[in-house]
Amino acid sequence: MPQRRPFVAGNWKLNGSLAGNAGLLAAIVAGLPATPPCDVVVCPAYVHLPDAIGRLAGAAIGVGAQDVADVAGGAYTGEVSATMLREVGCRYAIVGHSERRMLYGETDAAVGRKAAAAAGAGLVPIVCVGETLAERDAGATLAVVERQLEAAVAVAGLAALADAVIAYEPVWAIGTGRTATPAQADEVHGAIRAMLARHDATIAGRLRIVYGGSVKAANARDLFAMANIDGGLVGGASLDAGEFLAICGAADPA
Ligand code: 13P
Repeated sequence: MPQRRPFVAGNWKLNGSLAGNAGLLAAIVAGLPATPPCDVVVCPAYVHLPDAIGRLAGAAIGVGAQDVADVAGGAYTGEVSATMLREVGCRYAIVGHSERRMLYGETDAAVGRKAAAAAGAGLVPIVCVGETLAERDAGATLAVVERQLEAAVAVAGLAALADAVIAYEPVWAIGTGRTATPAQADEVHGAIRAMLARHDATIAGRLRIVYGGSVKAANARDLFAMANIDGGLVGGASLDAGEFLAICGAADPA
């Protein structure tokens, strides 16, 4: 089993203010060990990215966007390109979050184009997949996740996604306080890795697959202890420095 460095990212969603972010980031920087046990990333709103990047200069914390355009440039009002994000110092971009898929109609193919655009500009795409409660109840979890992922691989190619992070985020666990059990999540993560291994076993063995959906300090250690869970994509709990730091600390197996 290859050694995969754990990865913990905070998805701040539509939250924050310049003053509030300054306090949150200062508390995270102050509490994070000099050599964290995982890659640590925060994903503020677009307009707050340059400020956050400035505040984190020299810290062992990466900054990511919550979305990215699926095209390089042109007449696409309201969009922000991967190259623009790179230029201001972003290193990551979340693509295909379920809120974007469900509330803004993002298709599997569009998510694949976003992943390709991000990777092509030198960003690490954090590619989100996950089933709804109805899909889980219908026994379609693995089929849905496979469809979402295969669409991204079809557009981008797995080689282009070799450094990507995959986030399994069951929709029924997001913001609900209802976390997938470690066994439930690990089953899907294992299936994702097997699915990717059909394309390229080496890349599949190296890729980080993180879990998202009501991750908290209280459940992170049990989740991260599973063989195929390489960290977390954290929503609500990432807005609390103490919670977020404890979740990062849970990536340390010691
Ligand atoms: P919560 O941690 O608030 O459930 O959100 C998860 C999520 O959507 C992260 O992208």
